[in-house]
Amino acid sequence: MDQFTLDEVVAFAKRRGFVYPSAEIYGGLANSYDFGPMGALLLKSLRALWWKKMVYSRTDVLPLEAGIISHADVWKASGHVSSFADAMIDCKECHTRMRADHLIEDFFVAHPPADGSEVKVEGKSTDEFSAMIAEHHILCPKCGKFSWTEVRKFNLLFPVKMGILEGEQSLAYLRGETAQGMFYLFKSVLDSVRVRLPFGLAQMGKSFRNEITKGNFIFRTLEFEQAEIEYFFNPKTHDWKALFEDWQKRMNSFVVDDLGVNADRVRWREHSEEERSFYSLRTVDLEYNFPFGFKEVWGLAYRTDYDLNAQMKHSGADLRYMDPYTNEKFVPHVIEPAVGVTRLFLVLLCDALKKMDDGRVIFALPKTLAPYRVAVFPLLSNKEELVKKAREVYDSLSQDMMVAWDDRGNIGKRYLSQDEIGTPSCVTVDFQTLEDNTVTVRDRDTTTQIRISIDELKGAV
Ligand code: GAP
Repeated sequence: MDQFTLDEVVAFAKRRGFVYPSAEIYGGLANSYDFGPMGALLLKSLRALWWKKMVYSRTDVLPLEAGIISHADVWKASGHVSSFADAMIDCKECHTRMRADHLIEDFFVAHPPADGSEVKVEGKSTDEFSAMIAEHHILCPKCGKFSWTEVRKFNLLFPVKMGILEGEQSLAYLRGETAQGMFYLFKSVLDSVRVRLPFGLAQMGKSFRNEITKGNFIFRTLEFEQAEIEYFFNPKTHDWKALFEDWQKRMNSFVVDDLGVNADRVRWREHSEEERSFYSLRTVDLEYNFPFGFKEVWGLAYRTDYDLNAQMKHSGADLRYMDPYTNEKFVPHVIEPAVGVTRLFLVLLCDALKKMDDGRVIFALPKTLAPYRVAVFPLLSNKEELVKKAREVYDSLSQDMMVAWDDRGNIGKRYLSQDEIGTPSCVTVDFQTLEDNTVTVRDRDTTTQIRISIDELKGAV
C-alpha cells in the first residue's frame, strides 16, 4: 500500500478535522498547530493506550503530573539553560533562519560525496559547521545566495516572567521536557509513597521548545506533548542491559502491535559516541519512515545517575534512596523511554491512512484508537420511528464507547465519511429493525455487511 505524501497527509488532517494550522484566521502561528474534534479524540485514545500499556498495567510505574511553568533552577541544574541549544544560521539576503546541521545534511543528500562516504554532523561545534558551509560553498536553499551570518547557538527554552515576583526571581521556564519533573520530585515521592527500587515515574503532558524547524508538519513543533518514564534502579543489583532490552521490546510492541504500525517502516538506530550525551552509556532511537525519511519517534537512554546528581548538587537536597534491607544510601541510576505523543500521532496519520483498490480512503486505525468505535445511522432521517430506534441504539452503545451519529445524505456517503475518520463499524437501523430488532453492521476495511440482533451489538463492534 502506497504511503500518502506529506502534503496529502496535511490536507487530509485539515479537511477531516484532525489538525489545523494554529490560529489560521490570523494567518497562522509559525510551527504551531491546533487539533480539531477528530484529532482531540484520537489524541485522547492514544494517551489512554500509553497510560494503560506503560503505566497502569504495571505495579512498578507510578504517574506524576508536574507543573508546566517551572523553577528556573530546575533548568540550570539540568544543563538546559547553558547548553540546550541548536546551532542556527541566517541568510543575510532573504533573512531565512535555519538550523546549520539541517542545512548541511540537506546539502549532502542533494550532493552526496563522490567517494560514497557519509558526512556526519552530530556533535560538531558552531565553528566546525561554519567551516563546512564555507568549504562546500553551501548556498541558501531559499534564495540561492551565499551570504550567511556566523553559525551561533540558539537556546530552545521558553523563558516566562512571573508577575508576582521582581527581578531575577521572576524568571521561570516553560518546561523543555517532562523528564525533569521526575527528578526534582524524586524526594517528594520517596517521602510520601511506598516505593521500592526498581520503580518508574511516568509523566505525559506539554513541553515547549523554541525550535527552528524544517516545516515537516507536526513532526517538530514549538509546543508538543511528551510521554516519558524515568525507570530508577540500583546498578549493583540490577543489570542495566536487561532492563534496557526490556524497555526496547515494550516500545517496539507498543508501536507495532498496539498501534498496528507497519513493521517494515520501523527501525532502531544506535547513537554514536559523538552524538550521545556525555552522561549516557547507551541511547537508541525507534525511528519511523515518514514521507520525509526515517526519523526519531521514541528515544531510549541509559542516563546513569546524572540527572538526580545534577538536581541534588544544585538544590542541596538529598535525593538519595535508602535501601530498606542494607540501609545503604545511594543515587539510583535511570533508564528513560521518551516519546512524543504528537509525533506518534503523525506516525498514525502517515501509516494508517490508506488508498484502497476500490478508490476509498480509509484511516485504518485499530479499534482502540479510532475517534469513534462505531457510527449509528437511521436509514432515513425523515422517518420518526427509524430515528427513534437509532437513537436508542446510540444511547445504549455510547454508555461504553465513543459513537458517531449521522443522519445526513445517502448511506453510501455516510459510510465513506466514516471510513476516512477511521470508524471501524457502521450500524444502520432500517425498516427490518422495527420488525425483528436486527441491524446491519458494515466493516470499514472489507465493506462487508452482516445482520445481527441489537442485543448482540455491543460484543460485535
Ligand atoms: N527527556 C529526553 C528528551 O526529551 P528528546 O529526544 O529531546 O528527549 C523525546 O525528546 C521525544 O519527544 C522525541 O523522541 C520526540 O518524539 C519528541 N519531541 C522532541 N522534540 C519535539 C518537538 N519539537 N516536537 C514534537 N515532538 C518532539
